[in-house]
Amino acid sequence: MTTSSPILVALDFATAAQALDCARTLSPKDCRIKIGKELFTQSGPQLVESIQDLGFEVFLDLKFHDIPNTVAAAVDAAARLGVWMVNVHASGGRKMMTAAREALEKHQKRPLLIAVTILTSLSDEELFEIGYMAGAGTMVEHLAALTQSCGLDGVVSSAQEAGVLRNNLGQDFKLITPGIRLPESTKDDQTRILTPEAAIAAGANYLVVGRPITRSPDPAAALAHIIERIAAS
Ligand code: C5P
Repeated sequence: MTTSSPILVALDFATAAQALDCARTLSPKDCRIKIGKELFTQSGPQLVESIQDLGFEVFLDLKFHDIPNTVAAAVDAAARLGVWMVNVHASGGRKMMTAAREALEKHQKRPLLIAVTILTSLSDEELFEIGYMAGAGTMVEHLAALTQSCGLDGVVSSAQEAGVLRNNLGQDFKLITPGIRLPESTKDDQTRILTPEAAIAAGANYLVVGRPITRSPDPAAALAHIIERIAAS
């Protein structure tokens, strides 16, 4: 099922059983599901298929970063699995991103292909240490522009960067934004956070929301509350 909801629920659990229990409390009318490295490494394509069998579209968040041939084959495998969105690291470069895009072109129903620019966990000091001398803000804008010029569909960005990227890159480029918190929820380990309605106002197309939904005693109610806040804004 496809949905108009902008919410991508990050199903960050250690086991397939926990992930499926949580997914079964939600409706594919209200959200899509993001499956990341922990769960995929633990439970593999079978879990992706189980989530899809429940009716959800899946964002396979494996952030591929390798030589062009390998990344092209990996996104091709993701497309054959039937996922809705897949991602790569922009710092893999133009040839890699282009090879990934071209690998998806032969699929009738291809996944959206997006890139990660700079991991939001990296400080400017850490970026200098690995030789990225321009600092995070400049690098994010630079890598997002490169991603667009390689014909990808969008980037993952912090909610704070969304406004600048929306201005720089136009209306059609997709922005996927984690770090979403409600005023009443705990920050967990997120530092730069925005409310759902502020992230949408800044230009985000899709919001990745994990713990505020998955660790809630009533995940469906938490999701409904987020959707209502966006609708009311
Ligand atoms: O639980 P929470 O809402 O913080 O989950 C956010 C999700 O988004 C996690 O799956 C996390 O890995 C992912 N993410 C993030 N920050 C980024 C990129 C991805 O929190 N910059």
